[in-house]
Amino acid sequence: MAATASLSAVRSALSNRLPTAAAAAVTASIPPPSAATAASTAEPVVQCRWWNGSLDSVINPDLFLINAGGKLKEDDLDANSLIGQEMTEKFRDVGLIHIQNTGLTDMDQQRRLAQIVMGEQTDYEGGANPRDRLSDLGNVYDIGAPLSAHLHYHHEMTYKSHSVESIGFLCKHAVTQRPGVGWSYVSDSVQAHNAMMQTELGHKLKDKGLCFIRRLTDAVAYADHDQSQVYNHWQKSWMTDDPTEAKQVAEAQGLQIQWIPDPNVPNAMMMETRYYKSAFEYIPILDRNILITSIADDGEWFDSWPALMDIPQELRPMDMTFGDDTPISYQEKQLWTDCYDNFGIPIQWNAGDVAVVCNMRFAHGRPGIELLEGEKRELGVMLGRLFERQETKEGKW
Ligand SMILES: [Fe+2]
Repeated sequence: MAATASLSAVRSALSNRLPTAAAAAVTASIPPPSAATAASTAEPVVQCRWWNGSLDSVINPDLFLINAGGKLKEDDLDANSLIGQEMTEKFRDVGLIHIQNTGLTDMDQQRRLAQIVMGEQTDYEGGANPRDRLSDLGNVYDIGAPLSAHLHYHHEMTYKSHSVESIGFLCKHAVTQRPGVGWSYVSDSVQAHNAMMQTELGHKLKDKGLCFIRRLTDAVAYADHDQSQVYNHWQKSWMTDDPTEAKQVAEAQGLQIQWIPDPNVPNAMMMETRYYKSAFEYIPILDRNILITSIADDGEWFDSWPALMDIPQELRPMDMTFGDDTPISYQEKQLWTDCYDNFGIPIQWNAGDVAVVCNMRFAHGRPGIELLEGEKRELGVMLGRLFERQETKEGKW
């Protein structure tokens, strides 16, 4: 298969890891970020490092960076343009592109640039967190999380029957005077998978699978109630005000539904969904199964979210167990996180940049961000085409 051969060449290039000027610039100036901020609970908190401080130990940056030369024009926003072809080739081979120096200030143009490799966009139905399309972000989604919260490495929407092929990030504003502040990170999931399968946890995940649990609040019950500890209402997640329709849509996606009392609002009910699924997925372009899940789908997602971090683990809006309903230990969660952190790649933003990430071959995340007076950091998010997860294939490990 041509795609496989091409990928092998890329992997070979990765393993040769020739340092480049870009890599040297990164490693020379940036210390690894400090450990994530601890939540205010007595329980141990999983620490995130995001990367090991050395880009060239993970990937040759020439394989995913694209310099747009400072001023893209309308004609460039096309798959047949020179930059369009470079984007298509690198994205196919690596699953990651970061287009720098675009000169674009119109987010609609940034969106069309990303669409060269992403194709049609998907609405955020059934997403874990509430997002709105924003007209001032070129009709793409905002990031859907507070800036101060660290976001564990994750693959978008792996807790349902359908996921998205790719994620696009469009940078509207970036912090450029303090290196490291506001950067996103992606992690090479092939390398993370290989590391995970060297551990007992990897085989436990393979044997048992996972159960993803979501607790969605009722928008009506919270209409006159403090919403500071609300993550997502079921109405928003399922894009309907009808509980029967919400249940039908959720069940059609393979989720088991029950209505449970909301401990915060008298007589209110929350929608709790359970979904049993493999932690791994067969990736056609790789012709193998790899790990596509992380602890971002567990209560740890809220470890540094204002207000939500104060909710006890067992009551948080997201929860995760092994597929036989047994708990995942703190040590296992830390090991899982380390597997992704060891293969992290920083995305150093400048306004106008566009990055597109294969949602299966790479995980994405970022540390919390504290801005100084006058600083801005704003990204728009695009979701690529939906596809139905097929889980794993025998003989493809
Ligand atoms: Fe995400």
